[in-house]
Amino acid sequence: MKSQVIGAAVLWIATSVALAQSVVQPTGNTPRFPKAYKDLEKQTKPPSNNWLLDADDDIERFRRLQVIAGGTDIPMWEIAHRYEELYVAIQNNNWEMGVYHWEKLQDRLNTAGMKRPARTQNIEGMFLDSGVWKSMHDALTSRDAGRMRTQFQVVRQACIACHIAEKVGFLNDSSVFKRTESLPR
Ligand code: HEC
Repeated sequence: MKSQVIGAAVLWIATSVALAQSVVQPTGNTPRFPKAYKDLEKQTKPPSNNWLLDADDDIERFRRLQVIAGGTDIPMWEIAHRYEELYVAIQNNNWEMGVYHWEKLQDRLNTAGMKRPARTQNIEGMFLDSGVWKSMHDALTSRDAGRMRTQFQVVRQACIACHIAEKVGFLNDSSVFKRTESLPR
């Protein structure tokens, strides 16, 4: 009797673990790797939601992280968002919010350069070390609304100029530049 109870308990635990590990598929579709990523086929374990931990080794895990971290495009989403929040901050005379986004934007430009080192020259030369970044920072900490407004237009032009220099000038039609074209006084 006792062994039956233990047996049932073991079975219950084993089933629970198996269920927890198996992916619940509401669609009933079989999990599989995308055809575009041939390297994933080498994985010993079957495809599951444990896309990182189920990789065969750490080299493969790092490789997958590098793939999802992207290049310049993903940081640019964040940069565009923070640039637009800076625009909002200036309109509201909220210089602290402006400084917050401006400093994070600097971090993100640097990590973009880490990922795409051929862009570092323009990131630093046209933006971070050219005076564009510092002048905006100084304008914010001066709390001078007029200075902030003037400097914002310089920033906008520097973004646009770097896209041209990096041969992606077509991106200057992005809606964010239209929305930030002028700063009402
Ligand atoms: C190195 C110079 C450089 C600077 C400075 C720069 N960008 Fe970019 N930006 C790029 C490059 C290169 C791409 C294209 C990335 C790619 O091809 O993956 C890009 C892409 C973008 C995109 C499109 C992202 C997407 O894929 O959806 C936006 C929006 C953008 N940048 C906004 C800005 C804004 C706003 C600023 C200024 C605050 C700025 N960028 C400053 C180089 C720059």
